[in-house]
Amino acid sequence: MALSRRNFSALAGSTALGLALGGSGGPGAPSAYAAHGAPTGPAPAPPSADGEPHTIGYDRYSLLVDGERLVVWSGEMHPFRLPSPSLWRDVLQKMRAHGYNAVSIYAAWNYHSPAPGTYDFTGVRDLDLFLRTAAETGLYVILRPGPYINAEVDGGGFPGWLAATEGRARTDDPTYLGHVDEWLTQVNRIARRHLYTRGTGTILLYQIENEYDAHLDESGRAYMSHLYKKVRADGIDVPLFHNDKGRNGYWVPGSFDTGGEKDGWLYGFDGYPSPTQTPPDWGTFGPGGAKGGASASPSTPGFVPEFGGGWFDPWGGAMFDGKGYAESRRTRDAAYERRFYLTNLANGLTLHNVYMTFGGTSWGWLPAPVVYTSYDYGAAIDEGRGVTEKIAPMHQLGHLLQRVPDFAKLDRAAEVKADGLKVYHLANPDTGAHVYVARNDAADPVTTDLPTDAGRVRVTVPGKDARLLTTGLKLGGRILKYATAEPVLCVTAGRQDIALFSGRRAEMAELVLKCRTEPSVMRLDPEAAWAFADDELHVNVPLGQGGLTRVLVQKGESETPLLLLFADDATVVRLFPYDTPSGTLLVYGPALLRHVELRGSEVHLTGDVTETTSVEVWGPRGIDSLVWNGRRLPTRVTLSGSLMTTGLLPAAPEVKLPELGGWRMRRENPEAGPGFDDSGWKTADKRTSFSTTPVPDGRPVLFADDYGFHYGDVWYRGTFTDSTGLDEVALAYSTGTQGLLMAWLDGEPLGTHRMPVPDKDTTTRQGSWAATAAFPVRQALRSPGRHVLSVLVRRMQRDQDGKGLDTHKTARGLVAATFHGASPKVTWRIQGAAAPDPVRGPMNNGGLYGERKGWHLPAFRDHDWEPTAFPRAARYQGVTWYRTGFRLSVPADVDASIGLTFEDDPYRAYRAQIFLNGWNMGQYINNVGPQHTFVLPNGILRTRGTNTLALAVLSEFTTLSGPGKVSLTLLGRASGGLPVAPV
Ligand code: GAL
Repeated sequence: MALSRRNFSALAGSTALGLALGGSGGPGAPSAYAAHGAPTGPAPAPPSADGEPHTIGYDRYSLLVDGERLVVWSGEMHPFRLPSPSLWRDVLQKMRAHGYNAVSIYAAWNYHSPAPGTYDFTGVRDLDLFLRTAAETGLYVILRPGPYINAEVDGGGFPGWLAATEGRARTDDPTYLGHVDEWLTQVNRIARRHLYTRGTGTILLYQIENEYDAHLDESGRAYMSHLYKKVRADGIDVPLFHNDKGRNGYWVPGSFDTGGEKDGWLYGFDGYPSPTQTPPDWGTFGPGGAKGGASASPSTPGFVPEFGGGWFDPWGGAMFDGKGYAESRRTRDAAYERRFYLTNLANGLTLHNVYMTFGGTSWGWLPAPVVYTSYDYGAAIDEGRGVTEKIAPMHQLGHLLQRVPDFAKLDRAAEVKADGLKVYHLANPDTGAHVYVARNDAADPVTTDLPTDAGRVRVTVPGKDARLLTTGLKLGGRILKYATAEPVLCVTAGRQDIALFSGRRAEMAELVLKCRTEPSVMRLDPEAAWAFADDELHVNVPLGQGGLTRVLVQKGESETPLLLLFADDATVVRLFPYDTPSGTLLVYGPALLRHVELRGSEVHLTGDVTETTSVEVWGPRGIDSLVWNGRRLPTRVTLSGSLMTTGLLPAAPEVKLPELGGWRMRRENPEAGPGFDDSGWKTADKRTSFSTTPVPDGRPVLFADDYGFHYGDVWYRGTFTDSTGLDEVALAYSTGTQGLLMAWLDGEPLGTHRMPVPDKDTTTRQGSWAATAAFPVRQALRSPGRHVLSVLVRRMQRDQDGKGLDTHKTARGLVAATFHGASPKVTWRIQGAAAPDPVRGPMNNGGLYGERKGWHLPAFRDHDWEPTAFPRAARYQGVTWYRTGFRLSVPADVDASIGLTFEDDPYRAYRAQIFLNGWNMGQYINNVGPQHTFVLPNGILRTRGTNTLALAVLSEFTTLSGPGKVSLTLLGRASGGLPVAPV
């Protein structure tokens, strides 16, 4: 079959048909894979900044990197949701070890830009460091800098200051484009240094815009064209793409002007099917056209830049019945991943990114109003960096796709029917391997005969699960007839081939090898059974009985021995292949393998241990000793050819956390008092605004963004004299869900008004959340003379702008104040955050008095504050701060993940902003939830040293106010970890 191949290379600078394909290029040529010869040969070296130029091409099956097929098995994480750069490496190493070969990241414009023309890429914002770390870890990077990203962040990633600028965002409006170009210039200046095409980094692909379906007209096309050309002009020479929302077939190649470049553009789309849905066929094999997914672009490989790996939860927890992200993880579990992702592979999708793989924390004022602080997402790696059971299918499929190249080029093959199952049948035209995905969409298990090209195979597929079967796969020098267990990898380690298969616990795995001559078979673990008959070797293994099951096949078909390994899900995730310049290793035992180095005959391994374990290593010839995290371990050589520790590594030690006590407290909000000096505040006297919220007729603009206050709480003081007859103050305000307003007249509380809790209906989770709070005014406050109306507005950030309607420009803060019974002339002053924190950034703080005075900072001296203890129960309206310190002494070689947990009567109406060592780790709303535990990332948290905790508590008058119980919680622990630099 004549294939069209496209290459995008730094060298050629544009399309280069068939270039650099190692002699196998050009239409009609055999695939790179076939030219390669041995399907189980060494996996391509993991990508790195190797100083060599590389080509990134593609055909309709897959990417072709330096002419070799590459299936992209990527996971999404957001550096801005993990404010501790040392931990980036931890998450990336976990991804790499568990089978991912790429990481996809958004870069959030708002995170880097506190003001027009001001950009910060240092500290927790060090994009350069992230990209370097990814390259050092051996992961490709898919970079997605927007400018619009959505992502449940404030304004969908648009900086706060953009809300106060002219020009419709997400169009070709010249003012907007001017701002966009500034951002792209900044981000591309860094990205350009890390392009895989140049060998200076591992950026493989680059996305412009996100889910852009707002303006499909001339203006929208001009906008996309502008972005494309700008990115190219900035020197980004890897393939570009877009993430098409809802598979509309928008933004396929040729749909907008790319300045004459033909092959630099891939089509990608996203999907977040619910677990109750039948997994959809969004692949390359469909009839084409809209809604089919990849079939909208037949000449480019099937690419899903975002496929759901969990889902987010709104304030109140309506999405998961108040159970939070544990429920997201339960409903989109490992079986969900197998059912949906195997369906994707069966549909020819060979670029696959799971959103999220590590969700992290929307710390500070980063979250869009739709979400609370935790962005755990129910992902495979949880917010506390713990690897969950969801990693198993990712591990199995990821290693398989990287190490068994048959999967990179699959055509649909003859239709197969099996009772009770949906079956996809595919075949690799070059190797003859057949792939079957058997999916069970019903709740009960199905056992049936699957008619395969290797005969009828009896399979069981559990309810709401799927199974991958292969036939005709080359396993080193031998051929697999079929296996009911899923292939994970086949590597050559030292003098033998090793093939690993896995399945669910307690299943009986059946594997049949074709053998024209009888081999010599050794069962190395007692639970395995084998038999040879009719030129076939049958092996049966009940999975998960004794951990790993080993069967050694020698002689017969091949001189090279083949070690067959069988593992259940819990076991397979403790088996790590690792490539070194002297050969491939397979390591079994630890919870995580971070790194391997061969030094002469010594194997130096680093990684994590959680439970008691031995360590077993198959590797190149000549290795004779193991060094684990710097400690040499006594070993023996096993019958399976491995080096194995004679003793056991101990489980991770207990980690004791101190009780929190020694609290001190201080009330604030002097702004409420009539005598407060607000002369340094800005006068709110503007008459026009670029907000989408209309300015009330004849009144001043009160929107906080118009006065440069973009994040967190904002105070207003309205001063007036003529109040005779005043009987009500009505305050219109706009905050996003969960916002609130507190008002005082001459220091006397008028009351608190709060936006309602959103429910499951998505329409009520979006929107501007504007309301009017009306407060009756008591007689005593109507005396003649000067009066001050003080108002504190808790904003919950800007809306996202998914529809391209400038919804991020909806007003935040007060909208209008109306007086009933009198019409005083009011002078308004406004105060938000002081200058942005130079290290923690603009989203760390709002305008509370304590924040303006640095009460959240570790160096602040609180010795004259009043000592207090929790639980507390007091009734008042306003802001109170609580501070304490605590010391941790976690051993240096233990990675402890620690959280802060709040417990109280859920009826009590109060909320707390949590500052750890000055960093705003999020917002706890006691009477809304569902989040009670807040992750404290190491680096910000000093695990060996002292820490300062400050809580800024906003209490409503309606109920007693806590905090109740506040404690440290251990979220996970492992021996190993990485050195963590203080942030
Ligand atoms: C996608 C969007 C992402 C994120 C996700 C939901 O549609 O591209 O940015 O918002 O939905 O978590």
